[in-house]
Amino acid sequence: MFKLAIISGTDRPNSKSYMMSEYVQKLYEERGVEATIYSMMDFPISEVAGGPYGKELPKVEAFRAPILASDALLFVIPEYNGSFPGILKLFVDYLPFPDAFKNLPMAFIGIAAGAFGALRAVEQFQMVANYRNALAYPERVFVSRFNQHFDAQEGLTVPLQQELLLSQTDGFIGFVNALKGR
Ligand SMILES: Cc1cc2nc3c(=O)[nH]c(=O)nc-3n(C[C@H](O)[C@H](O)[C@H](O)COP(=O)(O)O)c2cc1C
Repeated sequence: MFKLAIISGTDRPNSKSYMMSEYVQKLYEERGVEATIYSMMDFPISEVAGGPYGKELPKVEAFRAPILASDALLFVIPEYNGSFPGILKLFVDYLPFPDAFKNLPMAFIGIAAGAFGALRAVEQFQMVANYRNALAYPERVFVSRFNQHFDAQEGLTVPLQQELLLSQTDGFIGFVNALKGR
């Protein structure tokens, strides 16, 4: 099997994105994938104050190294002001350019309090990932009204949404394995 980095896309304490990340981690582990959560809460934001682009930043390197050593990434992205959180862009802006995402398989889950399930947030983030030549898995999951539609044990409480989540999980595992030639 392979190593999956689940990126919890916000630094907000007690975030729903982290809860969702824990739930999907379980799904991947049940299927034999070594899945680790990396939360934007742990991104060393004080290291990048003042814009030290291109400089050696040991704490940033320590945060990003295990992510970039993974075989695939799964982003759990909350919608903030019709987009993805700024910390997630900062994370990307401090990845090695241009190759960090090149040919790296990725999948996307969007979550939002509102009715559109972070469609905008995920699509905007995908523009960035595409620009950096990532390999996007086409099945995405969008969870609207997250508070009403998520249970930490059972997952998504709308049956169709849970079905789509399981389909993404199985499909993404197949996608990554096919790319790895297994
Ligand atoms: C700064 C901020 C901006 C937000 N903007 C939106 C928004 O534009 N649309 C929306 O549906 N929800 C918005 N939300 C709510 C989040 O999408 C919602 O809480 C989501 O379930 C997960 O965010 P979390 O991981 O921070 O808990 C916003 C939340 C915050 C903190």
